[in-house]
Amino acid sequence: MLKQKACRPFAKAGPCSLLAEACSLTMKNLGILLSGRGSNFEAIARNIQSGKIPNARISIVISNKAGAGGIEAATKLGLNTAILPSKGKDRETHDREVVASLKEHKVDLICLAGYMRLLSPWFVQQFPGRILNIHPSLLPAFPGLEAQQQAFAYGVKTSGCTVHFVDEELDHGAIIVQKTVPVLDSDDEHTLSARILEQEHLAYTEAINIVLDGNYEIAGRRLLRKIRASN
Ligand code: GAR
Repeated sequence: MLKQKACRPFAKAGPCSLLAEACSLTMKNLGILLSGRGSNFEAIARNIQSGKIPNARISIVISNKAGAGGIEAATKLGLNTAILPSKGKDRETHDREVVASLKEHKVDLICLAGYMRLLSPWFVQQFPGRILNIHPSLLPAFPGLEAQQQAFAYGVKTSGCTVHFVDEELDHGAIIVQKTVPVLDSDDEHTLSARILEQEHLAYTEAINIVLDGNYEIAGRRLLRKIRASN
């Protein structure tokens, strides 16, 4: 599992500026996969820059769709980007291109951020326990497409979002973070989706920090935080 030492690479001064080499040993490379506007990606990028996600950098942003807003945003931030179109390719052929790019950029942790494409079992096996996904419902309720609309139409009183490990089944791996959002009588699908999205931006950063910190174990489907011994 990914182990981190405490150092804040974006702080202006401090141990990292003195021990840049040592810190770079613990710095983890994130690979972001997206298909659309990329607001979750942008929240992650902002939180890396502000030091809320310490010891991480984004080494590549990949989209399977040309014209994805997230790629434009990544380019403006000066990040490495790749557009690897999936249309017309069988799943594993496309996944092999994506995995080659992730490996070329030495990615430690992959964050699916609105990546609207199922990963092949082969892809998942390349990065065991190192692929995260965000889904706009309280899983296991409402997996698949348009989760917010599914929840709204079902009439739930509470919805939310889930960040989970990716396994070989759709929207299924062990849950890392969930955040709840009340469904108001005055809501429509759009207002509910917008409030869920605000929580997504918080949840993804929390989940990345938990995983990069490495201080957890998986018991069955349950992610359990370990209690740190105090000195
Ligand atoms: C987000 O709501 C994310 O949870 C959802 O796509 C949206 C992407 O928004 N993902 C899924 O539905 C995956 N099953 P963004 O491009 O602004 O981050």
